[in-house]
Amino acid sequence: MALTKLETKTGSRPDPNILTYNAPAVAEYYATLDYLTPCESLLFDQYLRSGMTILDLGVGGGRTTSYLSSIAGRYVGVDYAAQMIAACRKKFPRLEFEVANAADLSNFVSASFDAVVMAFNGMDYVIPNESHFCALREIRRVLKPGGILIFSSHNPRSIWMRPSWNPRRVQDMAQTMAGNNSVLFRPLLWSLTAVRLILAGLQATLHSFSRAARRLPTRTFWLGQGYLLDPAHGGLKTHYAVPEKVEHELGGFGFQLLRVLGDDYPRMSRPYVTDWYYYVFSRIGATGEK
Ligand SMILES: C[S@@+](CC[C@H](N)C(=O)[O-])C[C@H]1O[C@@H](n2cnc3c(N)ncnc32)[C@H](O)[C@@H]1O
Repeated sequence: MALTKLETKTGSRPDPNILTYNAPAVAEYYATLDYLTPCESLLFDQYLRSGMTILDLGVGGGRTTSYLSSIAGRYVGVDYAAQMIAACRKKFPRLEFEVANAADLSNFVSASFDAVVMAFNGMDYVIPNESHFCALREIRRVLKPGGILIFSSHNPRSIWMRPSWNPRRVQDMAQTMAGNNSVLFRPLLWSLTAVRLILAGLQATLHSFSRAARRLPTRTFWLGQGYLLDPAHGGLKTHYAVPEKVEHELGGFGFQLLRVLGDDYPRMSRPYVTDWYYYVFSRIGATGEK
């Protein structure tokens, strides 16, 4: 595997996650995604304006591209995985995409973007710490003063999982079982709903115990910041941090917190439940100021 520009420059160890993100099957999976979560819709509507220059960092397969490019004056999607960028170019042949590491945005001039978006926790995979800090410096450099940074990050203290089930599927099942017998439909629907609720409760309890068993013994859980292995795509080394740590860290890099919102919105965020949080920061200070 060819080393990225940053690795060549700093001599740091190669990032283990890039092998996963460059796997064709993983890139293809991300390319199938094409929606915004309710949390993203709310924050994009509130903080992004039509005509803005927008950098979509860690763009993946272009899940956020349709929306962001539709409002942007200039839109650029960047990812360090060449397979992801190839998938984006195939999906959106007229748009601008580039292979680059978030820790080295030297292809972009200072103060050239009104907003940088790093959706679905891309920031948590910019590792090790040295690269993570470079990325924060680079994002600040390419943002205009007052520019907006929107990103999400995993919550290390998320150990309780809410029961989840699809009422529509239960209704469809009751309908199929009842056939043309409308008298049977209601009792069937109630019984199936009760069974599904019990199953969902059991599943959530099992998952919660398993997650708690993995997270409670770690320093990352107790410190509220650090690395954990995310089981996604066979295991990704992932940075996790609680909102207080994120606010403190970005404050040190010249960003001011505007909003934190759990990705479980419109449900209420809970410190031991919410899987990850979205953050909106604004870049403070003048251009070129450290
Ligand atoms: C979880 S995916 C999210 C993809 C996309 N933003 C979305 O919302 O669907 C994280 C993305 O960040 C990219 N990424 C991870 N580390 C990166 C880095 N150092 N520089 C640029 N992209 C990176 C990965 O290749 C991957 O495409």
